[in-house]
Amino acid sequence: MEFFDSHAHYNDEKFDSDREILIEQIYKEGITNIMNVGYNLISSKRAIEIASKYDFMNASVGISPNDIDDIGIEDLNRIKELAKNEKVKAIGEIGLDYYWNKENKEKQKEIFIKQIEIANELDLPIIIHTREAVMDTLDILKNKMCANKKGIFHCCPLNIELIKEALKLDFYISFAGPVTFKNSKNAQEVVEKVPLEKLLIETDAPYLSPEPVRGTRNDSRNVKYTAQKIAEIKGITIEEVAKQTYINTKKIFNI
Ligand code: NI
Repeated sequence: MEFFDSHAHYNDEKFDSDREILIEQIYKEGITNIMNVGYNLISSKRAIEIASKYDFMNASVGISPNDIDDIGIEDLNRIKELAKNEKVKAIGEIGLDYYWNKENKEKQKEIFIKQIEIANELDLPIIIHTREAVMDTLDILKNKMCANKKGIFHCCPLNIELIKEALKLDFYISFAGPVTFKNSKNAQEVVEKVPLEKLLIETDAPYLSPEPVRGTRNDSRNVKYTAQKIAEIKGITIEEVAKQTYINTKKIFNI
């Protein structure tokens, strides 16, 4: 059984002590494709550098809504230059986060829209981070800047209205550790709602470890717990989840 972890951050400093050994081990244990995701200029550069060492890893570049404080047009131009690297398969993670940052909503929207524009110019999909900002995120995608190559709602909030609208927009829904959490009461309803052919799985490593390893440093091997939970909810085997999500993820990233 092989898995595609559609979203991880091996550019994070939490992997500095054992990154290379760990990545080799992860591959041996069946995670044979990984998307290494940037969230600001430095981490985007690092995402490409690390992915360049492995055939089974690609990268995305972008500035997250939690990293826009000093961001100007020249930084966005640098993201665009980085995105021309052959290892880069998406722009992200980008989006809106009113949970961590309520004070700069207009700037968040502006930077999000500009990065969708970059994705459109380079013919790339987007990886969306949205938290406590469902209405504004959908408003941008529907009315302000259409993402031509579509993309992914990463670590998708377990919000049934968002899921319905995201599917209408023809986006993929990526589930992470939270669907396994005992207190995530919407997981069942939300996972049932997403057709298997629009579903992806991810770890968001080093964050958001699923049950039963919640609270530890996350890595791509734990994607199996999320896959197992989805299999249980959908009444299919984990092999089927692994296989179809692998196909889906390759398709959206054009790998
Ligand atoms: Ni992330």
